[in-house]
Order: sequence, then structure tokens, then C-alpha cells
Amino acid sequence: MKQPLRIAIAGLGTVGAGTVRLLRENAELLARRAGRPLRLVAVSARDRNRARGIDLAGLRWEADARAFAGAADIDVVVELIGGSEGVARELIRAALEQGKHVVTANKALLAHEGVALAKLAEAKGVALAFEAAVAGGIPILKALREGLAANNVKRIYGILNGTCNYVLSTMRESRRDFAEVLSEAQRLGYAEADPSFDIDGIDAAHKLAILAAVAFGTEVNFSGVHVEGIRHVSALDIEFAEELGYRIKLLGLARPTEHGLEQRVHACMVPRSAPIAHVEGVYNAVVVEGDFVGRVMLEGRGAGAEPTASAVVADLLDIAQGRSVTSFAGPASQLKAGVAAPMARHQGAYYVRLMVVDRPGVIADIAAALRDEQVSMEQMIQRGRAPGEAVPVVLTTHNTDEAAMRRALDQIARLDTVREPPRMIRVEAL
Ligand SMILES: NC(=O)c1ccc[n+]([C@@H]2O[C@H](COP(=O)([O-])OP(=O)(O)OC[C@H]3O[C@@H](n4cnc5c(N)ncnc54)[C@H](OP(=O)(O)O)[C@@H]3O)[C@@H](O)[C@H]2O)c1
Repeated sequence: MKQPLRIAIAGLGTVGAGTVRLLRENAELLARRAGRPLRLVAVSARDRNRARGIDLAGLRWEADARAFAGAADIDVVVELIGGSEGVARELIRAALEQGKHVVTANKALLAHEGVALAKLAEAKGVALAFEAAVAGGIPILKALREGLAANNVKRIYGILNGTCNYVLSTMRESRRDFAEVLSEAQRLGYAEADPSFDIDGIDAAHKLAILAAVAFGTEVNFSGVHVEGIRHVSALDIEFAEELGYRIKLLGLARPTEHGLEQRVHACMVPRSAPIAHVEGVYNAVVVEGDFVGRVMLEGRGAGAEPTASAVVADLLDIAQGRSVTSFAGPASQLKAGVAAPMARHQGAYYVRLMVVDRPGVIADIAAALRDEQVSMEQMIQRGRAPGEAVPVVLTTHNTDEAAMRRALDQIARLDTVREPPRMIRVEAL
């Protein structure tokens, strides 16, 4: 058997500890598949005395993970610390500079600096691999780079954040409101103490920016992602969605348009007939629409120790076998600039919920505002009658311009019969 692949792991939290366990438990299988042992040599974390439920016997402990970059007995540095600044970033840069392969799950860093780091890796003739950074255990980057590589991707979209999907699924199943379900998710460990990265769509946007770069051969353009979270989704909207034949999901979607690359993360009305509508709880899914293959959907666990370790170690296997792994779909130097399509140019259908005073003429005023902006209504539901009081009115539109829709909503919001700011959710044709 060939020389072992010598591995150092920086960060022994959820993913790091899971990776150590996988390397140990499946050592024999991995050695057989790689044709050489995958040998864990050294580890690093902040607190040496923390109980981690993993066996670290025989492993070198490094107080400063950055020392891995220059260590002669290490071939691959696995960065599982996280964060777009600080030690994780310094370690990855230094390791690549010193000609070491790097495997990371750090989507925040890659969304900002992925292309620069990939160029550095290519210049040094080493791999920068990050399957675990997008949708955890789902091997979507490998699928795009290899199995689907013959296709022009027309569109890619997915449920990219398990916390949001859990919250939205639970709101629907239990008919409870956002705040209550979020605090339950925090108690159960499905949401962080500070959930804003997940709930406000940032985490999904990091992943979408990386996915889009791989799918469309463009540079990662995180600042070009239109991002909205799910805080504004109410139990009432979920109920109306059901009535209209939709489910509400936080999706990340990207597609090339005549105005540039559209990348957006926001709550969507998804037809119940679409396979992705049935991806529930903490599960993630990614759908690729290719010109020859058609629609392909991959579903699985997008986070957690074991699924994420599965992706990390798959990258290690590629490196162990000497497969040339390009970080993106081709050489980083040949990626096209990722020109962002402005959200105002987005074309799509909309769901709008208004709370309006129940009195004659209200609906005519709303219809007039839509007509003025040439927004064509598809259907309208007025629930209940309570003369003189606020009642929900829901409408859906045919395809229209986002800019026109927003102007119409501004006009509607100014009507004295409209009691709350209009709630708008985009309806996706999937
Ligand atoms: N959790 C998931 O399911 C998941 C899924 C996909 C991707 N990711 C990504 O994977 C990465 C790790 O996430 P995680 O959830 O495993 O994080 P985590 O549980 O918070 O673990 C972070 C680890 O990094 C260590 N660390 C912090 N600062 C360090 C430093 N200066 N030097 C060395 N080690 C340091 C911590 O040490 P101590 O333990 O001593 O405090 C801890 O072991 C992140 O980039 C995350 O976005 C996570």
C-alpha cells in the first residue's frame, strides 16, 4: 500500500469531532477505497481540556492551528474552525502558500474569498476542497463538477438552511407562530442562541453564492445575492399558502438572465406539487435544471456532525487518490465576472396579504393600484366579514416586474383602509 495521507484537523467542534470519528470508525474502508491509509496526525482546538467524546490518543495537539501550515509531517489541513476572519482564514492562506492541500467547511470565508483562495491553490498545485460548505452531507458540488458537467445549468435552487426549513415546517404542522417555534428550535438545538445568520438568510446566501459560482462558471458574488429571511412569515400566511396549494420555503435560487446573474434568498410560495415542497424539517435539498439532463434533485441532511463529516472525508478521499479537484467547475482564473441582476428587474408572480378595513370600495382601491402599475391579479381571497374592522385580504398576481409590484404595494400601503404594511411573498414556478 502507498504512503498514508497525513491529515491535521483544526477545530474539534460539531464537524471536527464528527470527522475524527468517521476517520477512525471507517478507517479500513477508507484505506481500501483510497488505496492508502487516511492517517490523522494532529489536531487543534481552543480548549485542550474540553470533553469531546472522541479519542485523541496518539494525536499531536497543536495550541496554534496555524503551525499546521509549516509542518513537514502533514499533507492536508482540514479547517473546521469557521468564520470569515481570524485564525481560520490565516490558516487556510498559510497552508496553501506552503503547498498543502486544504479541506474546509467554511462557507462564510469561501463566500467572500473563495476565488482568491482557489487561485492561490491552483498556483501552488494543491487542492482547495469544500464539499461540506454547501448543504452539508449532500454531494452537490461534486455532482455539478462531475456527473452534471456536460450540461448548461439553466437554474439551480434549494433549501439550503435546515434551521429555517425546520421552523417553517413546524409552523405549518403545529399552526404556531414564528417566535414560539424559533424558541422551541433553540431549546432542541436546531437553532443557535443567536439565530440571525440562519433566520435572516445569510447562511443560505453564503451557500448560494458558492453554488452559483460552481454551476455557472462565474466568480463568487456574495454581495450580489438579494437576501431576505423568514422573520416576517406568519402563521396566517402559511394557512393561506395551504389554501392556495402552496408551501412556504426559504429557497436560494440562481439563474442567468439577460440582466446578469440573478441570485436571491427569500421565502417562496412553492407549489405543493413540486418535489421540493415535501422536503421538511432539518432536511436540505438542491435542484439543478440542466439543458440535457432536465431536473435533478438531491435531498439529505444539510448539517450535523455526521453528514458534514461525510462530505469532508469525501474530499479527503479525492485528495488521497490524487484526483485533481478544481475548487469550482474549472480553473479559478477562467471564471467569468459574476454580474448581478438587479432585484428590481426580477420577473415573477406574487402573493400579497393585506389587513384592510371591511368597508365598501376597499377592493376597488386595491385593484386600481395594481392596474396603475399594470400588475395583473390572478386571484383574491377575502376571509370573513367584520364590517368596520380589519380583515385579511389575500391576492396573487400573474408574472410581473418586481419594481412595478413594489410601486403598487407602496400605493396600497398609503390607503387609509390598509391597516398593516402589506406582506409580500414571491410565488415560484418550479
Ligand atoms: N455544524 C454544522 O452542521 C456545519 C455544517 C456545514 C458546515 N459547517 C461549518 O463548519 C465549520 C465548523 O462548524 P462547527 O459547527 O463544527 O463549529 P463549532 O462546533 O463551533 O466548532 C468550532 C471549533 O473550532 C475551535 N476553535 C475556535 N477557535 C479556534 C482557534 N483559534 N484555533 C483552533 N481551534 C479553534 C473550537 O475549539 P473549542 O472546542 O476548544 O472551543 C471548536 O472546536 C464552520 O465553518 C461551519 O460554518 C458546520
